[in-house]
Amino acid sequence: MLLQVRNVTRLFGTKAAVDNISFDVAKSGFVGIIGRSGAGKSTFLRMMNRLTDATGGEIAFEGRNILTLQGADKRAWQSQCAMIFQQFNLVPRMDVASNVLHGILNRRSTLSTMFSFWPDDDVLKALAILDRLGIAEQATKRAEALSGGQQQRVAIARALMQDPKVILADEPIASLDPMNAQIVMDTLRRIHDEDRRLVIANLHTLDTARRYCDRVIGMRDGRIVFDGTPEQLTTGVARDIYGADASFSENATSTSIEALPSDADADYARRMLA
Ligand SMILES: Nc1ncnc2c1ncn2[C@@H]1O[C@H](COP(=O)(O)OP(=O)(O)OP(=O)(O)O)[C@@H](O)[C@H]1O
Ligand SMILES: [Mg+2]
Repeated sequence: MLLQVRNVTRLFGTKAAVDNISFDVAKSGFVGIIGRSGAGKSTFLRMMNRLTDATGGEIAFEGRNILTLQGADKRAWQSQCAMIFQQFNLVPRMDVASNVLHGILNRRSTLSTMFSFWPDDDVLKALAILDRLGIAEQATKRAEALSGGQQQRVAIARALMQDPKVILADEPIASLDPMNAQIVMDTLRRIHDEDRRLVIANLHTLDTARRYCDRVIGMRDGRIVFDGTPEQLTTGVARDIYGADASFSENATSTSIEALPSDADADYARRMLA
């Protein structure tokens, strides 16, 4: 078993942000997590990456409970389990290649990185990854000079620099226009298909989850209320996950602005994409 999540809970005060969730991932896949705002999606990813401590439960990766790791073991896990964020989290004024090299910062001495003395092998590896993601020609530009879609690909490149077994992506396309959203999702999917890394992505739109994931987990109020294939994710099921009333519209959870029927829905979608 690759990943076993057992009765994982996270309380904030008396409120359970994640409420006793359990699921298994037998072998590497592309897993999407969906659910309305506040469902507990980010809290779960943050527990996996040990950015947030769980209140209870166990997350076993390749048979080892990663929730109890401390010190160097915890840092080693964090480098095997790379995280990608909605807001990219790059250093805006630093060049792209250095941003990518920062993916292995914790493995290098402070002194050498302070003076940008990166070993040649590391620099070549960073450039090869940028090339693979189609942004090699941006390597010397400042990160802030790139488009959102390019910046997110730099963030993915930084994650790959760690050579992680798992990539966690927290709404990786929520700040992107539909075209860039597609490029970034295609990139994540490719990394799974070609490298067999496990990808777990929180996604804010149904059509993206259906299109890219092998498996979709639906969360509501901290609990798992759906766990199945994209085909099983029907409109009725989606309505249950999002807890929407009769006015629930599939289009309101779509990445494609063109598909939207009314101005009200379009405004909603744009706000969600903004
Ligand atoms: N640091 C914190 N302190 C207190 N409450 C928190 C904290 N972080 C999250 N919560 C609460 O936990 C619940 C789950 O939050 P979480 O951010 O995991 O949801 P989410 O599904 O990622 O939502 P979104 O789609 O808005 O990103 C929410 O009720 C939130 O207010
Ligand atoms: Mg979130």
